[in-house]
Amino acid sequence: MTDGPDEEAAALWGGRFERGMAPAMVPLNLSLDVDRALWRHDIVGSRAWARALGGAGVLTAQEVSALEVGLYAVENRLARDGVGDAPDEDIHSLVERLLTEEAGEVALKLHTGRSRNDQVATDLRLWVRDAGGELGAAVTGLMRALVTLASTGVEIVMPGYTHLQQGQPIRAAHWALGHLWPLLRDRRRIEAAVASAGVLPLGSGAVAGCPFPIDRQALAADLGFSAITENSLDAISDRDFLAELLFAGALLGVHLSRLAEDLVLFSSIEFGFVRLDDGYSTGSSLMPQKRNPDVAELTRGKTGRLVGNLMSLLTLLKGLPTGYNRDLQEDKSLAFDTVDTLLLVLPALAGAVQTARFRPDRIQGALDTQLMATDLADYLVRKGVPFRRAHEAVGRVVKAAEDQGCGLPDLSIDDYRAIHPDFDDDVHDVFDWTRSADSRATPGGTSKSAVETQLEGARAAVQPA
Ligand code: ARG
Repeated sequence: MTDGPDEEAAALWGGRFERGMAPAMVPLNLSLDVDRALWRHDIVGSRAWARALGGAGVLTAQEVSALEVGLYAVENRLARDGVGDAPDEDIHSLVERLLTEEAGEVALKLHTGRSRNDQVATDLRLWVRDAGGELGAAVTGLMRALVTLASTGVEIVMPGYTHLQQGQPIRAAHWALGHLWPLLRDRRRIEAAVASAGVLPLGSGAVAGCPFPIDRQALAADLGFSAITENSLDAISDRDFLAELLFAGALLGVHLSRLAEDLVLFSSIEFGFVRLDDGYSTGSSLMPQKRNPDVAELTRGKTGRLVGNLMSLLTLLKGLPTGYNRDLQEDKSLAFDTVDTLLLVLPALAGAVQTARFRPDRIQGALDTQLMATDLADYLVRKGVPFRRAHEAVGRVVKAAEDQGCGLPDLSIDDYRAIHPDFDDDVHDVFDWTRSADSRATPGGTSKSAVETQLEGARAAVQPA
């Protein structure tokens, strides 16, 4: 055996082998570059495992304390020096090797009754707890930014779109808050994934359970898990909690992408509803006038990998035979990438939203009087006309205005009367953007009071717990 990874492998499981690993196999086998992110979780789990072995009478109190002290020393070392270019196969073997350096012979007892199969499943669940917390906080940051932007848009009436065609007037705050509620659901989905991860697999061994009388309930409590897994086979192969986190991340990405798309459109010259701050815009190396919404485009572009990571994980899990399979090693790069991507995107997008400004002049200028068509129909309904007939009559009003090349308010009262006798002199009162918005006063609507209530709810949702 030479120095390097194959020597490490020999230390882990080399007893039955005559020859070291083939050179072409070595890099494929290594996972340290990815799973180094789990080093803290691996140490925390190992300390708890040492205590559990002590509780089971497998280790003496002295041995437990030597292992714990050694693992603290390993923790300090890794915190100080990092993993660097250590030659070990994975984070578990690295921690064990360093522990041997720190604690000596007793380190060789730590892996009693444990397998890397239940170990890595435990590490990952501990990681999900941390990552989920960070993600949730980052989502809250974006929600706060949307609250800030929304609070500047309560008095601004803008076109509300369906099919990207002007539909009905809405308050700009209503638009901004329309992007907040999906994020609240995303946050709940992240929390649910963290709760799913809160079931302890440690004590499941490689496949069949642990032959030493470990108190798994106490171990779960020690590590902050709320329950223990019921079946060792399921425990070592279950990655549902990761799939749940990656789904939450993918759907969050879809929501971010839609917000991003609105920002791209609304910051264009054609719309001009929103101005992104200089700090979140970029210029062109060629076209001096350019002010590009890269923050939004990059956000939109990152969604592909978030969806892709979920698809990759589901495909990875599909069709595996019962128990641990090495395929599962591929789960980590997907999960880490989703979380890293979101932790990159969310603060930047939050900053862009926080510093974005509505442009009331441009918004006002974009309002087309056809946005009032539904209000006109509702006007007739209030006079007792059945809605379907009112809809038909207003359709003819719109056509008449188009034929005359004018807006709806520019048609004469005679034109209106010719179309429907229930149109009266007061029909022109309909053409008030704010009144139109305020007529939609049911909860969830775009009236000033409904939006203010909504804003209060949104503020409550972003309060620190
Ligand atoms: N690196 C492995 C993983 O990430 C750890 C478990 C390895 N177990 C084994 N029996 N080879 O899944």
